[in-house]
Amino acid sequence: MTRIKFFKEESLPLEMHKVRIVQKLNLLPIEQRLKAINEAGNNTFLLKNRDVYLDMLTDSGTNAMSDRQLAAMMMADDSYAGSETYYRLEQAVFKFFNKSYFLPAHQGRACEHILAKTLVKPGDVVPMNYHFTTTKTHIELCGGSVIEVFKDEAVKITSEEPFKGDIDLDKLKKVIEEVGRDHIPFVRIEMGTNLIGGQPVSVGNIEEVKALCDAYNIPLMIDASLLTDNLYFNKVREESCKDLSIQEIAHRISACADIIYFSARKLGSAKGGGIVLADKDLYDKMKTLIPVYEGFLTYGGMSTREMEATAIGLEEATDIDMISHGPEFIAEFSRILQSYGIPVVTPSGGLGLHINAREFVSHIKGEEYQAASLAAAIYIVSGARGMERGTVSETKNPDGSEHIASCELVRLALPRRVFTLSQIRYLADRLAWLYENRHLIGGLKFTEEPEVMRFFIGRLAPVSDWQEKLVAKFKEDFGDSL
Ligand code: F0G
Repeated sequence: MTRIKFFKEESLPLEMHKVRIVQKLNLLPIEQRLKAINEAGNNTFLLKNRDVYLDMLTDSGTNAMSDRQLAAMMMADDSYAGSETYYRLEQAVFKFFNKSYFLPAHQGRACEHILAKTLVKPGDVVPMNYHFTTTKTHIELCGGSVIEVFKDEAVKITSEEPFKGDIDLDKLKKVIEEVGRDHIPFVRIEMGTNLIGGQPVSVGNIEEVKALCDAYNIPLMIDASLLTDNLYFNKVREESCKDLSIQEIAHRISACADIIYFSARKLGSAKGGGIVLADKDLYDKMKTLIPVYEGFLTYGGMSTREMEATAIGLEEATDIDMISHGPEFIAEFSRILQSYGIPVVTPSGGLGLHINAREFVSHIKGEEYQAASLAAAIYIVSGARGMERGTVSETKNPDGSEHIASCELVRLALPRRVFTLSQIRYLADRLAWLYENRHLIGGLKFTEEPEVMRFFIGRLAPVSDWQEKLVAKFKEDFGDSL
């Protein structure tokens, strides 16, 4: 914690919790890791967890739960309709966001589905700070399109900008003037902007965007899935928030939003999601879709146990000890990697550590997927699985050519309260070795390429025998060591 002063250590992210349940891990020998990644089509999504040492694919549904969450799960009321559990969750949501209407859904993208179906018409344009994969897909499936209005600094990998997720107001105004208010169903702000490295949005920017939206009578939608990390950054990086409680900052943000949705796999450290509204008409329009696509209005596809855990998780998301853990571990991981000269996104954000693959493996062509190649190499040398967040995660151009992503990143997610500093130092050490031997890493090509969201289940193969050469060099340097 930043509040602790040390004697010999410069600073350390200090845990304000202790671990009481553990899961045994495996670290396979490198030959088996090579076999596993090839069986997985060089796609870390397709690895079996039994073959993974550090599962840093995502923080989605993988945060450690608290004793209070586990205890609450035992109180779940399983009634299909009108369960007590639902009303406890509803109250927790109302308290956290200070709004009056809630629709439960089974996860974040389910909310996006309902919202896009209700609000987006063919030809509509949705301006946003940055797209998220599932959000963009749902908008496009309804005939709409996405325009990103981020500040230029957002996609600069190394920067001093504390709020890279902010919207550029001039760009937003220009889009509204050009497209016309009638074709803009809403403006979307994604908190803790995922694909540019978990970068936060300032409360000041949200308030300015809201004022602009009001001037044109356009609703403002906030994706609060990554709100907890964002709240931490508001508290420590934004002058106007430093004397506010976390709950007060959350209320300042939600006061600007006409529509909020969240994945409770992230915000709430459980599993589920929901849409939060201030407007009854909008609520009435959407509520009929919940029983069609999700489940009855008092569970929305969630298990009642997860709903209980989410209710407590939302309460705990106002605790600085809880929400500081992810960002501070990521900052420490980033500090170690930078000391080894490894290119990472700065300033460090939330969700995970983001490596700049475009620079790490600059010798690989964009069309041979730098981030995906690096993610495969990281698994081979360390047993850690990260996630490609680059060109493979993009949709191809209409003419079939690759749409080279503006950021080519490998994300090593740090689910909250899950990993230890020694595990992080182990991985940093393996990454230092890989960086020194980066010339050995080669590209990948698709062998199976789904048309929609290919990054989830697409399969790739190395363009040469680079992986065997990497393993040979590893064995030369590390002998029989795992
Ligand atoms: N919005 C954001 C900002 C997200 O990061 C995610 C999920 C979603 C919406 C969709 O929520 O998974 O509950 O359906 N992000 C996960 C990730 C998948 O690994 O970053 P979901």
